[in-house]
Amino acid sequence: MCGIIGYTGPLDSKRILLEGLSQLEYRGYDSAGVALCMENSRIRLIRHTGKVSNLKEGCRKIAETSHCGLGHTRWATHGGVTTENTHPHQAGRITLVHNGIIENYHQLTLDFHLEGKLQSETDSEVAAWVLESLYEGRPLEAISKFVSYLKGSYSFCMMFEDHPGEIYAIRSISPLVAAYTRSGSFVASDLTALIPYTKQYFVVPENHIVRLTSYKVHLYDLHQKETIPEMMEVSWNTDAAMKNGFPHFMLKEIHEQPEALKNTILPRMVRGLPDFTDDQIPDSILEQCSQIHIVACGTAMHAGMVARALMEPLLRIPVTVSIASEFRYEEPLIDSKTLVIVISQSGETIDTLAALRLAKSYGASTLSVVNVKGSTIARESDYVLFTHAGPEIAVASTKAYSVQLAALYMVCCRMALVRGAYGHEEAENFMKELLDAIPAMEAMIEKRDSVKALVTHLINEPDAFFIGRGLDYAFSLEGALKLKEISYIHAEAYAAGELKHGTIALITDQVPVIAIGTQKKVFAKTISNIREVKARGAFIILLVGENSPVEDGIADVIIPIPEVDDRFAVFPVVVILQLIAYYASVGKNLDVDQPRNLAKSVTVE
Ligand code: G6P
Repeated sequence: MCGIIGYTGPLDSKRILLEGLSQLEYRGYDSAGVALCMENSRIRLIRHTGKVSNLKEGCRKIAETSHCGLGHTRWATHGGVTTENTHPHQAGRITLVHNGIIENYHQLTLDFHLEGKLQSETDSEVAAWVLESLYEGRPLEAISKFVSYLKGSYSFCMMFEDHPGEIYAIRSISPLVAAYTRSGSFVASDLTALIPYTKQYFVVPENHIVRLTSYKVHLYDLHQKETIPEMMEVSWNTDAAMKNGFPHFMLKEIHEQPEALKNTILPRMVRGLPDFTDDQIPDSILEQCSQIHIVACGTAMHAGMVARALMEPLLRIPVTVSIASEFRYEEPLIDSKTLVIVISQSGETIDTLAALRLAKSYGASTLSVVNVKGSTIARESDYVLFTHAGPEIAVASTKAYSVQLAALYMVCCRMALVRGAYGHEEAENFMKELLDAIPAMEAMIEKRDSVKALVTHLINEPDAFFIGRGLDYAFSLEGALKLKEISYIHAEAYAAGELKHGTIALITDQVPVIAIGTQKKVFAKTISNIREVKARGAFIILLVGENSPVEDGIADVIIPIPEVDDRFAVFPVVVILQLIAYYASVGKNLDVDQPRNLAKSVTVE
């Protein structure tokens, strides 16, 4: 939700900020703006609705150079998509950009008598005026006081008119990283904006103030005592965040899945078995728990649904999956014998973070499956299993999902081993099957042209249905989400046997039904359900194991899936589901990587 960036240094800040905003655009793209501190110390605002490309166009005419500035790309929360609501906001001597939500903005408006001053409808401008009211020429002191008035989540980058060339930043919950490089000092919502300049960075600790000058980055606590940041190193390079010849990030990321799976699995295999020693995850938490509760949002939650369907029958303990935004306001039945597994690509999703904190308050052991190192969820969990997907830029998640699954499959296998559900040989076989899923995914990626050809049956339809039973149902959930989020075709996933209890009323001539039939145990039942919809005129696209017996005429299009053990079918199947969504979006000429109304990292409730 919203990307922010600050730069001060010897280079042209306009160029650096605009390039950084392009990298951060996946976080929100309703509007974008920059504030440039010009050579005469005057601060100039340039703000445009729409994408960063509009802002770039608007900045073309600026001939003056600037070496210090702030940038923002917005996902609208408070107030509509207008130029006035676009960041940066100015209040007297203060210019700032904000990511997050100030929950008590209304009270602050009253307490600081701001009615009549505000130019926008945003909580961020209210915050700017609060800071201006508290400012007496000493930025550190003012910021320390300022945050004591705020409720909510935030990361702010700020400039003070009488401190030209300096940028200040602070965060609570919302992410922020900073770096000092040969090209100057940077602060941004995430690393993708910094990697062209450095591999060394630090995560700004919560409630700490960063001060950037063109020579150094300083970190202070709220008592204005300088502290030493904990430096980290990025493990991927600039290329990882580029399209590298692919027309869209999503297609690139679909192709990266086999490699990402290897990177996630292989370093954790010792003598053919999953081993989490290097991750410092003790077997005791896997062995001693009496139940597992998985919590996540969106695609990550769908990975949890697959994990549940895999784990419960094997481990013979209750495994529950909760949507984080629901879980956080429930009174969950969890205790110190519960293992709570939190899944998040970004490690910053606000509801997932709140769910993690709630689980900890109940005394549960917490294990997070996270892609972004240094993220808040990773830092606050008792144990972390990092996935190695590299940066995922397309808003619709693809490779993050498959590596989350790989990590969860390994956890399941290790649990089965330490709890005695598996002997060594069974665990080794399980891992072998997991590795065999990688070439099966590669084979599916090779089928992209046939998937491209079949989406003509989808793109003119308003609705599509995904059906399957057992694990196939869990895969369907992700298929439907992918299709609706990037093609805007209304898509629903249904447990195949449940369709006849209402939803079948929507099946008429040529309505596309994507049926998944990889689970042998329920295959005949799924086929019966396919017949039921076929009899009502549905257009059936069937994903089925290449050796499965399928009678002629049961489906309009059959996509054969390489024969892998049923439990691992998700890996090849999901590639096809992702490609269906991808080509449907391309076929409708939509913005594949940045679908309307969405953002990649949801750091507001
Ligand atoms: C957003 C993204 C989804 C993602 C979900 C959870 O909705 O658009 O792709 O699955 O957030 O994000 P997380 O970073 O916690 O996995």
